[in-house]
Amino acid sequence: MPWHLLPENASVGDNGHLYIGGCDTVEVAQEFGTPVFIYDEDHLRARCREAVRSFGNSATYATKAFLCKAMAKLVHSEGMKLDVATGGELHVALAAGVPGPDLVMHGNNKSESELSEALAAEVGHIVVDSFEELDRIERLVAAGSPPARILLRVTPGVEAHTHEFISTGQDDSKFGFTVSTGVAAAAVARAMASDAVELVGIHAHIGSQVFRVDSFAKALEVLAGFAEPYGLEHLVIGGGLGVPYVEGEEAPSISQWGKILIQAAQDVGIKAKLGIEPGRSIAAAAAITVYTVGTVKQLEGIRTYIAVDGGMSDNPRPVLYGSGYEGFLPADPLAERTITARVVGKHCETGDLLIRDAALPASTAVGDLLATPVTGAYGHSMGSNYNKVLRPPIVFCRDGDARLVVRRETYADLLQTDLS
Ligand code: LLP
Repeated sequence: MPWHLLPENASVGDNGHLYIGGCDTVEVAQEFGTPVFIYDEDHLRARCREAVRSFGNSATYATKAFLCKAMAKLVHSEGMKLDVATGGELHVALAAGVPGPDLVMHGNNKSESELSEALAAEVGHIVVDSFEELDRIERLVAAGSPPARILLRVTPGVEAHTHEFISTGQDDSKFGFTVSTGVAAAAVARAMASDAVELVGIHAHIGSQVFRVDSFAKALEVLAGFAEPYGLEHLVIGGGLGVPYVEGEEAPSISQWGKILIQAAQDVGIKAKLGIEPGRSIAAAAAITVYTVGTVKQLEGIRTYIAVDGGMSDNPRPVLYGSGYEGFLPADPLAERTITARVVGKHCETGDLLIRDAALPASTAVGDLLATPVTGAYGHSMGSNYNKVLRPPIVFCRDGDARLVVRRETYADLLQTDLS
C-alpha cells in the first residue's frame, strides 16, 4: 500500500493494524460499523495551517469538498474562511457557529432566497457569477442599506488540464464572465456603477484536481492584465490543487502551491491581495473509507469481483469521472498485494464500482475490512441515498480518541421527508 496516500498520522500498531490519529482503524470499524469514513483530525488541521501560513485570512476552505459542523468548526478555528456554494452549505456553516463575515457565498445560479440569506448573514463576500445575479442583488439590497461586498467571477480562458467535468476556466463554461470577449469588463463597469454593490475584487477558478501548476500561473497572467488596472483589493484564484489518489501520482503541497502562486503573482505585477479556496487539498488525503467484504465472485478467465457494503452512494467519483483508487486491508496494511480484483459496491447497477483493477492481498476474503484511502473530499459530500442505502458515519481520530461527528443514517431518516 503506497504509504504517502494515507493520512499524515497513520501508523502500524503492534497488532499489525492500521492506526489513524492513534486509533486502531479495525476497532473504529467494529465500534461504528461499516462503511465508515475515518478522518485524521490533525491532518486536516495541518493542511489548514499550511494554507493560512501562505495566504493569511485570504485562505478560504471550499466546503463543497467536505462539510459537517465539526469540519466547519475545525477549519474556522484554524483561521480559514469558508466558501459556501448554496443556501444549504451556508446553513450548515452558520449552524456550526461560523460568523457570516467569515463566509464567502458562491454559486453560478444563486436564487433570490439564497442571496437574501447570504445578505442577512452579512457574509464577507458574494462572488457574483452573472448579470442576472447583479439584478437580483440590486432588488434585494434596500435603498439606504450598506452595499453588498462582491467579487466578480471571470473565466480567464485557460485550460486546466483536468477532467472535462471539473474544468472551469475555459471560455466555454457556465461559470462567470468571459474576459476575452469583453463581457467581464462590462460586468465590472456595471458593478462599479451600482449603489447596491461594492466591487472589492475579481475571482477565477480554473478547475479541480489540477496537477499542472503552470495552469494557475497562466490564469494569473491573464488576471493581472484584466484586473490590475481596476486597482481592486482582492484577487482570488479559487481552488483546484490536485492530490495523488493512486500509486505513481504526485502533487505539490499546499505550501509549494502557495509559493508558486505568490511568485507568479509577483512576476506579473499583481498588487491585489491574493486569495485561494482549496477544498480537496485540505480534506482528501485526511480520510479513508472502511468497508466490509460481503462476496467474492471468481470468474475463471475473466476476473474476480469483490463486493463491499458501500459503493457509488458513498463514493460516486469512480463512476462520474473514472477516478482511480487503491485498496488495502486495515488489519494488515503492509500485506503484499498480489492479486487483482474489481472492487464493487452493493448498488443495482454494473457501473457501481469503487476500484476497477485493485491490487489486493491474496488472502482477501469475505468478512475482511477493506479500505480505500484519499476519500476525505467529494465522497461524503457527493454521497446519496441511492437504493435507500444509509449514508455512513464520520469519525474524527486524534491522539487515540475516536470521535463520532456524524452518525450513520437510520431507516427513520429515510422517511423523514415522506409525507403520506
Ligand atoms: N472554489 C470554487 C469556486 C470551486 O468551484 C471549487 C470546486 C473550489 C474552490 C474547490 O476546488 P478544489 O480545491 O476542491 O479542487 N466533485 C469533483 C470536484 C468538483 C470541484 C468543484 N469546484 C470531484 O470529485 O473531483
